[in-house]
Amino acid sequence: MIQISKSFVLSIFVLMVLAIYLFVTAPVPLKENELETFTLPIQVALQILEEENDVARNLYTKAIVGAGKKQQIKFDENWEDDDIIAGPLPAQFMKLTATSLEQSPVQLGLFLGSDYAINKANNFEGEQRKNFQQVRETRKPVFFYSPDAERFAYMAPDIASAKPCITCHNDHDESPKTDWKLNDVMGAATWTYPKDKVGYKELLDMMQALRAGFEFSYQAFLKEVSLMDNPPKIGDIWPKNGRYVPSVEAFMDELTSKSSSSSLKTLLLTTKVST
Ligand code: HEC
Repeated sequence: MIQISKSFVLSIFVLMVLAIYLFVTAPVPLKENELETFTLPIQVALQILEEENDVARNLYTKAIVGAGKKQQIKFDENWEDDDIIAGPLPAQFMKLTATSLEQSPVQLGLFLGSDYAINKANNFEGEQRKNFQQVRETRKPVFFYSPDAERFAYMAPDIASAKPCITCHNDHDESPKTDWKLNDVMGAATWTYPKDKVGYKELLDMMQALRAGFEFSYQAFLKEVSLMDNPPKIGDIWPKNGRYVPSVEAFMDELTSKSSSSSLKTLLLTTKVST
């Protein structure tokens, strides 16, 4: 008769438990369509987009409009009129981006408004106005759900960061407020989206659509530039160095290098797993 030792029985038993354990808990490889089960809150996605938008707005305001004016490059709110050859103003640059987003397949909304708007179409109404009061008081973004629009919204302050913001608004005939001061919250950029969570692929689609929007806005400026008398040269050189403007590639490269690391940082910080 074969003697089966106790230790042999025990070893078999341990092996069986281990096999069951591995079978039950081993990670199952992800199928491609399961990737989207990893989601992040819409607030984080909209925050990333707003940070990128802020970089674009600053770059256009300072490096293109501010420095360009010193090189006699014209900017005018009526830039779209056929007989006016001039670049769009910073707020209009953002509006062009918003138009491009509207035409893209992503359902992102972007609106630059104020409670003292030059253009009455930019006035905040109803719940937007109420939420904007909080943005003005705290100088921080607010996140809310808009039942009217059935959309989640992220509203971030638009601050008078440079002197031309306040001089132009204070002197403008249509401006209902003429005592803007530097660093005032002049308005807010509102981002909207219909869902409360987004997958990573969806976030990348949003970021792509936004960058395409910046490109669309900048192209509109370059088109005006090409019609100017003695047009500034379009290439790698920026207006701060003379009568030049960056090409769309040079503008987008600068934008990407200024915003990509902060976007990644926000993403990593907000999706950090607590240990
Ligand atoms: C050369 C003039 C000029 C400069 C410089 C300028 N703006 Fe404006 N801004 C305008 C005009 C004109 C509009 C209205 C555009 C439109 O028709 O939608 C506007 C629109 C806005 C709006 C939307 C509400 C409104 O008033 O219609 C905000 C907010 C705003 N600007 C903030 C700023 C900030 C902040 C800066 C500086 C970073 C700035 N602006 C620089 C002229 C200017």
